[in-house]
Amino acid sequence: AAVMAGKRGALIVLEGMDRAGKTTQCKKLVQALQQSNRPADLITFPDRTTPIGQQISAYLKSDTDFEDHAVHLLFSANRWEMVPLMKRKLEQGVTLVVDRYAFSGVAFSSAKQGFSMDWCRNPEVGLPKPDLVLYLQLSPAEAALRGQFGDERYETSAFQKAVKQNFEQLLKDSSVNWQVIDASQSVEDVHKDITDRSHKAIIRAQSLPLGELWK
Ligand code: TYD
Repeated sequence: AAVMAGKRGALIVLEGMDRAGKTTQCKKLVQALQQSNRPADLITFPDRTTPIGQQISAYLKSDTDFEDHAVHLLFSANRWEMVPLMKRKLEQGVTLVVDRYAFSGVAFSSAKQGFSMDWCRNPEVGLPKPDLVLYLQLSPAEAALRGQFGDERYETSAFQKAVKQNFEQLLKDSSVNWQVIDASQSVEDVHKDITDRSHKAIIRAQSLPLGELWK
């Protein structure tokens, strides 16, 4: 494959609450980038295809149980196991569009009793740092109009409320390039917003080294 001369791809993450449209928007963004001749790939966390990911998937479906700290570390390990592939692709000039990342890891686990954000962040320290984190913001009322909760673990309104507060805390972290997107707009308007910001991030990333998260 042709390797770009030194022009790395960008690491672009989408985060947000349930039903904000992350997965739809990730797919549309990858397509739009590819159509404008920018190599791009989709990455999803948890990646349920690996042995670790299968354990996570069974946990989310309540087919198995894990101690809360242990499962937090599994989610983190599921990211770390993808790091060599991610770095290789970025170096080859491929932009990665990532559906959930360390921020979901921290926001969800720290919604549990006795989990500080600090503890939750620790295993994530040093992961490839996103060039851009798009937070798809949607009020709980608007989310409710888009349908019911699923029946996986964490899909209850009390838990989601705590997760939302944690995301809002994480948004204050100025070491991360957060950009808030109004996810109540039409799918096409959200898509345009995200695509514009992503093109800018891709250009910027070309002349910057890949960073390390929270380090
Ligand atoms: P996901 O597969 O994105 O499910 P959905 O499409 O239903 O949102 O994520 C599964 C669940 O795992 C979701 O409730 C968020 C949670 N999660 C964590 O608790 N920690 C993590 O590190 C990640 C990536 C997700």
